[in-house]
Amino acid sequence: TRIPKYAAPLPVLPTMPRSWATRDVDGYAISVWQFRQQVLPQGFPSTTVWGYGSANRPKTAHSPGFTIEAHNGRPVQVNWVNQLVDRHGHYLPHLLPVDPTLHWANPPGGRSDRDTHPMFATTPPDYRGPVPIVTHLHGGHSTQESDGYPSAWYLPRASDIPTGYARVGSYYDPHRDEAVERLRVRWRPGTAVFQYANDQPATMLWYHDHTLGMTRLNQYAGLSGCYVVRGGRHDLPAGVLPTGRHEIVLVIQDRSFTPDGSLFFPPTRGFAADIPPDARFVPFSDVPPLWTPQSFGSTMVVNGCSWPVLTVEARRYRFRVLNACNARTLVLKIAANPLAARPAPSALSCWQIGADGGFLPTAVRLGQVLCAPAERADLIVDFTGVRPGSELYLINEGPAGPFSGAPGTAPADPTTTGQVMKFVVAPPRSSDTSVPPAQLRLPAAQPLDAAGRTWRISLNDMTSRYYQRALISMMLGTVRPDGSPEPLAWGAAVTESPAVNATEVWELTNFTPDAHPIHIHQVQFQVLDRRRGNGPARPPEPWETGRKDTVIVYPGETTRVAARFDLPGRYVMHCHILDHEDNEMMRPIQVLRSQS
Ligand code: C2O
Ligand code: CU
Repeated sequence: TRIPKYAAPLPVLPTMPRSWATRDVDGYAISVWQFRQQVLPQGFPSTTVWGYGSANRPKTAHSPGFTIEAHNGRPVQVNWVNQLVDRHGHYLPHLLPVDPTLHWANPPGGRSDRDTHPMFATTPPDYRGPVPIVTHLHGGHSTQESDGYPSAWYLPRASDIPTGYARVGSYYDPHRDEAVERLRVRWRPGTAVFQYANDQPATMLWYHDHTLGMTRLNQYAGLSGCYVVRGGRHDLPAGVLPTGRHEIVLVIQDRSFTPDGSLFFPPTRGFAADIPPDARFVPFSDVPPLWTPQSFGSTMVVNGCSWPVLTVEARRYRFRVLNACNARTLVLKIAANPLAARPAPSALSCWQIGADGGFLPTAVRLGQVLCAPAERADLIVDFTGVRPGSELYLINEGPAGPFSGAPGTAPADPTTTGQVMKFVVAPPRSSDTSVPPAQLRLPAAQPLDAAGRTWRISLNDMTSRYYQRALISMMLGTVRPDGSPEPLAWGAAVTESPAVNATEVWELTNFTPDAHPIHIHQVQFQVLDRRRGNGPARPPEPWETGRKDTVIVYPGETTRVAARFDLPGRYVMHCHILDHEDNEMMRPIQVLRSQS
């Protein structure tokens, strides 16, 4: 059955209710729950999802979660509760197939010897135990204790957790040391208490699950939400930009569904083209039995609703866009005809005023918006003068599969994932007093100048010893002095140890055929340039001239960014294609206190 488009209104994500407030902090108790949500249109079955909601208020549970509104200079504390239990207090198993051969430590096992372990000889293994979670504030200037380190996961408080299961994960970190042990200081059973300082420029961050080796599944099941920081000297005064009902968060995701409305996620490796189609499970091999190199859904979902429609007034809007797809890079455009040949002419221009870490130095007028997984685009779209009754479409001309950045790669099918949502234009209900984007003076942060040492990072494909072209994992690593890559697994010793308060350069060289969005925790960095081999350096794209926390690294190229860490401790960097992040494309970073 085809899913009809534009049958339901866009859910506008409400503000997450505060649980308490003191003079010094806004407090939230936020649970992760399992519940049903009408993601597909009325008349279709509802979908069992996971989502965040205010604790003890199940009606606030939604996927994506309600938006946390934070204010520059005022800390937020969140008690993140793992409520993945049923009403008897028994744990709920995962909604999706879990590949226990990926490196997710315990419970119950860690990366096993896939090629020799008898458990993997005849049937694909699947993990049905209690589900670990840990929440990360993406783009947040967070201390290590509150950053949501991937192996610092914790199980729910359930009565039936098998003996021998670790309830918390950091003891099982391969880099077990004091730095990692310290991450557990704020835990209570089933809960992590994290504090966010909000001492960073106004922007839209997002919170999402970050559990080692399960991030792709926990996020696909629904664990993400937005976090808006307002105020401070890098925000605009009230009234300059569209606000209230004219400022709308758009969380864009691709998902697939089974006929009963359940989320579908590729359950075996046979869905990837690099393995013989009959070899759905390859016994005694180094091929992860369930992992898929990049997973793409067949349905576009915005704010938790498939192909929604939004009535807009003929005036300016501020859309705060997040690409929360697991692997899909979006190329967004507003078009009058969603089925026009691609590239379709753009019916309206939009202006990008901000990116991941805050405002751009100047607003950039764009015919299309490029947004890789985890990137945010702060957009002004001007519907002024559009005839009431007109219908416009947010379309996606990004590829249906892996993104390489090369021109001419086939765009997504215009009848399915090539469409995202529809706008129906209505007459304005009041006059628009916001400032036209061309006249905006934006309070961007000062650019960072490169100064200190350079860290050279490689992006690598790892292939099987058994099936020559089969990918078995993705790895970050270092670049040797001769320019060759040295891939390193997550569990290898730390090789990057930036110094506190130094501005250092990160040189990311991509030895794979696809583009990868690379994310570094704690910092908002400055994109310096890109170059192909030893070719000339290209400046960043105009929409990358503000601070960023995620940057696209194109195949065969080196992308350089400058970053200044100012909090010591253990953090990570990784690819934000979640299938990659979950299978080794992540490395620890140890930020060192300065020597003096
Ligand atoms: Cu959005 Cu380390 O993650
Ligand atoms: Cu990647």
